[in-house]
Amino acid sequence: MSQQHQPGRGRELAGARIAVVGATGALGSLVAAELERRGARLLVVGRDAGRLEALGTGVPVVADLGDAAAGDAVVAAAREHLGGLDGLVNAAGVVAFGSLVDTPDEVVEELFLTNVVGPLFLLRRVLPLLEESQGFVLQLSAVVAERPMPRMAAYSASKAALSAVATALRTELRRSRVEVHDVRPPHTETGLASRPLAGEAPGLPAGLAPDDVARRIVDALAAGETDVPASAFAPR
Ligand SMILES: NC(=O)c1ccc[n+]([C@@H]2O[C@H](COP(=O)([O-])OP(=O)(O)OC[C@H]3O[C@@H](n4cnc5c(N)ncnc54)[C@H](OP(=O)(O)O)[C@@H]3O)[C@@H](O)[C@H]2O)c1
Repeated sequence: MSQQHQPGRGRELAGARIAVVGATGALGSLVAAELERRGARLLVVGRDAGRLEALGTGVPVVADLGDAAAGDAVVAAAREHLGGLDGLVNAAGVVAFGSLVDTPDEVVEELFLTNVVGPLFLLRRVLPLLEESQGFVLQLSAVVAERPMPRMAAYSASKAALSAVATALRTELRRSRVEVHDVRPPHTETGLASRPLAGEAPGLPAGLAPDDVARRIVDALAAGETDVPASAFAPR
């Protein structure tokens, strides 16, 4: 009989079958590399086949979070290539800046589609697989979920919504022993702020180093830390 996972006791990453969504992103690619270094078997999920191949790790799965079927592609690839799934890391996300009045409707819509609605569609499809394995979900929310910022109203709201999903699911999935990690990093020097859907980033103080943040995220996973607030990240 397989052993039951003990939530909060930490998790063995060697051999764990993990899908990393947003694997072509700055944090996503670093988290994927760190997971691979610790022996995980990966699906790397993103929008661009060439850039997924270029990662040189994991089984590539081309999917767009704006497409409700993205989760079906992840589930099919997990069953075919890994025989199931032990974890889902969602490191995809988009940002926009500017006053709300100046933020076009389409931008508000795309922010919520990518940061909230797509992840919910994805979770609806992938959670049954994670329930089979007593696996985990790890989502990258952000510091703005704790401290919403002016000129980032829609982005802050989308990240607060994602954190709310994690809090609700943590209890909802307790019986099936699926762990839900909500990670809320502070500003990190990944270049995300330089590629917003709209607007211009405010002057931000120097952010954290992306590889420190990625390592801290994987450490939290390995240690079974489910709530990882901005204060858990030490400045460089
Ligand atoms: N950098 C920070 O300061 C910071 C702080 C706190 C939280 N975060 C969060 O951390 C996550 C990663 O951010 P990052 O800094 O690594 O930014 P990034 O390098 O721009 O990575 C974002 C990733 O999201 C993917 N993505 C965007 N729209 C998508 C869609 N519709 N379907 C599938 N994938 C999509 C991108 O895919 P493509 O490669 O195809 O564009 C990219 O892989 C985001 O959720 C961000 O909000 C970042």
